[in-house]
Amino acid sequence: MRRRARSLRVVSTDAELRDVYEGQYSAPAGDAERFGRWRALCAEGKADHVAELARSLDAPPSIVAEIGCGDGGLLTALAARGVGEVRHGFEISERAVAIAATRPEVDRVERFDGAALPVPDHTYDLGVLSHVIEHVPEPAPLLREAARACRALVVEVPLEANRSASRPAAEQGRAQLGHLHRFSRGDVAAMARAAGLRVRADLADPLPLELHTFWADTPGARARAAAKAAVRRGLFTAAPAAAERSFTLHYAALLV
Ligand SMILES: C[S@@+](CC[C@H](N)C(=O)[O-])C[C@H]1O[C@@H](n2cnc3c(N)ncnc32)[C@H](O)[C@@H]1O
Repeated sequence: MRRRARSLRVVSTDAELRDVYEGQYSAPAGDAERFGRWRALCAEGKADHVAELARSLDAPPSIVAEIGCGDGGLLTALAARGVGEVRHGFEISERAVAIAATRPEVDRVERFDGAALPVPDHTYDLGVLSHVIEHVPEPAPLLREAARACRALVVEVPLEANRSASRPAAEQGRAQLGHLHRFSRGDVAAMARAAGLRVRADLADPLPLELHTFWADTPGARARAAAKAAVRRGLFTAAPAAAERSFTLHYAALLV
């Protein structure tokens, strides 16, 4: 039976949620450089996923939008992979928009209300919702709006309906990140169907060593993180379904 997405906490007001995201793009001065490197590193893997799934489209996408584009790092990484000739970003965080606007690879970026995209139907060949819908109290309307504005979508989420992510410590970590839902891959397919879309291609990723070790500051912590990364990749390779039930994978789906 399909596991339903579970709400992690009482939904905050829109204003509270906006404050959370503004805060994420204004790290304390000493940490800003490291957070920037972290986001750029994450963007590389996410862009690989989008580029791989975009190969299943009938034609390479020419005009691409990222909805919830954050600081624009993913759009920059997509440009490096030749995804899209024109790239637009939409974001609810003012600070993130200001950073994204400085990137030459981003042709247009604007703040929006998180609900209605200010463009006509099917403006974009491809829309990207990367690590956004788990942050949104009601993901279905945003997905429908994205499907209106874009001919196809890549949606990426962490698959958090697993044993490791059910631990109280993990639950607290997710709440701090602003994750309001724990999705399974079935949840993504169901949301796609409700938006009039279907999954044409998908992939899952246990994440590379560099991400697992990024925040490890001591040799011991680095060794533990490296061991964890190796165990996870090993299980994912040998038994992907068991891996998905055990720990968090990043899951990307091309919806058409
Ligand atoms: C984890 S970040 C992901 C940023 C970027 N998409 C990436 O993958 O690197 C989540 C982003 O979603 C944005 N966000 C939250 N609610 C949103 C909504 N309703 N519409 C669009 N973006 C939203 C946040 O401001 C934040 O920048």
